[in-house]
Amino acid sequence: MPGNIIIKNAHQLVTCSGFEAKKGKAMSELDIIDDGAVVIQNGVITAVGKTADIWPQVEASGHAISEFDVLDARGKAVLPGFVDSHTHFVFGGYRAEEFSWRLSGASYMEIMQRGGGILNTVKATRATSKEELIESGKKRLDSMLSFGVTTVEGKSGYGLDRDTEIKQLKVMAALDNVHSVDIVPTFLGAHAVPAGYQGREDAFIDYLISEVMPDVAARNLAEFCDIFCEQNVFSVKQSRRLLQAAKALGLKLKIHADEIVSLGGAELAAELGAVSADHLLQTSDKGIANMAKAGVVATLLPGTAFSLKEPYARGRYMIDHNCAVALATDFNPGSCFTESIPLVFALATLYMNLTVEEAITALTLNGAAAIDRADTIGSIDVGKSGDVIILEFPTYHYIPYHIGVSTVEKVVKQGKLVFDKEPEKC
Ligand code: NIG
Ligand code: FE
Repeated sequence: MPGNIIIKNAHQLVTCSGFEAKKGKAMSELDIIDDGAVVIQNGVITAVGKTADIWPQVEASGHAISEFDVLDARGKAVLPGFVDSHTHFVFGGYRAEEFSWRLSGASYMEIMQRGGGILNTVKATRATSKEELIESGKKRLDSMLSFGVTTVEGKSGYGLDRDTEIKQLKVMAALDNVHSVDIVPTFLGAHAVPAGYQGREDAFIDYLISEVMPDVAARNLAEFCDIFCEQNVFSVKQSRRLLQAAKALGLKLKIHADEIVSLGGAELAAELGAVSADHLLQTSDKGIANMAKAGVVATLLPGTAFSLKEPYARGRYMIDHNCAVALATDFNPGSCFTESIPLVFALATLYMNLTVEEAITALTLNGAAAIDRADTIGSIDVGKSGDVIILEFPTYHYIPYHIGVSTVEKVVKQGKLVFDKEPEKC
């Protein structure tokens, strides 16, 4: 149930104002209001401005102030809720041993080719009941919420067969109904080549196109289709075929592109009009230029590069070449087992050379654009969903400065207080 709330006296109201992705230089514009206030009615933002202007309007409007919860954000910064636009948070089992193998020198792809990696999680996810997946998914969403995430994208891809892919997507639909974090579901049936299809990747793509995707689309279980376009997984040609079929079914497109090898995934994303291309550690200058031109959001996942000890994506270069960059966690049980937003901020600013302002845009408005929601979330603008966070510090600069530690004190989702670090001091 959406709520009514007024947040006033915010030392800094960081609105991130905008209704579409910000590209290049525009990523630095945060549109800050000092001593700001925001009014949320029935879950929707109805007024934004200086407290000195907004508060008298509220009092004069005839609305009983008693209909609203009022939060005093004196000495605190207020921002839009974070949008984590790339995760794989519904899965069974864990792969802690792989972390140690990687420390001993095995690469992510070597582990995958030995039948470990994603296929390991596929086995576990097939064996896990829907109820158990809902339970673990809920705990993960609770943790994301504590980091200030109010909307998350979640991918299937640990089934690689119709029933398990659908089970994962149904788990997300069930969680979306009961949890305050909104979930945007993506079909990632082409996440790995399952046993039985090794060396017959084209036949697996045929299976997904003819037997799985139509069912997923007909049941309205996914908004996006994604594919792991990578050497020794799915080629550019196979990716094009699958994504074109997805588009014909009304799904929007995403691509795991150029993560390990510069295969041309970014170019394909531009060619097909994908909403985002993700990872992009090895993307060529041409791929970057094509994405900028086509308006594909470049979604960067620095936690994965960190965890796999791979070079970071060229975030600075992409912004300097007029791309819209988003940042996300890639939370998953293998390459990046973390939902930590503070870690993403630390890596993006210290190692990818994004400014603090650019990193904030990348996790708010551009995160929303990466899931085609820039018109409804990702900024504090009138008409948007009332999803905001209150920091325990006066300015947004504290977010990366407090390295690896969450600065989020309160989270408001659709006008309701849904997380409070200090509910009642005892
Ligand atoms: O985005 N690269 C492919 N997929 C995921 C990893 C999934 C896993 O290892 O379980 C990623 O990094
Ligand atoms: Fe991923």
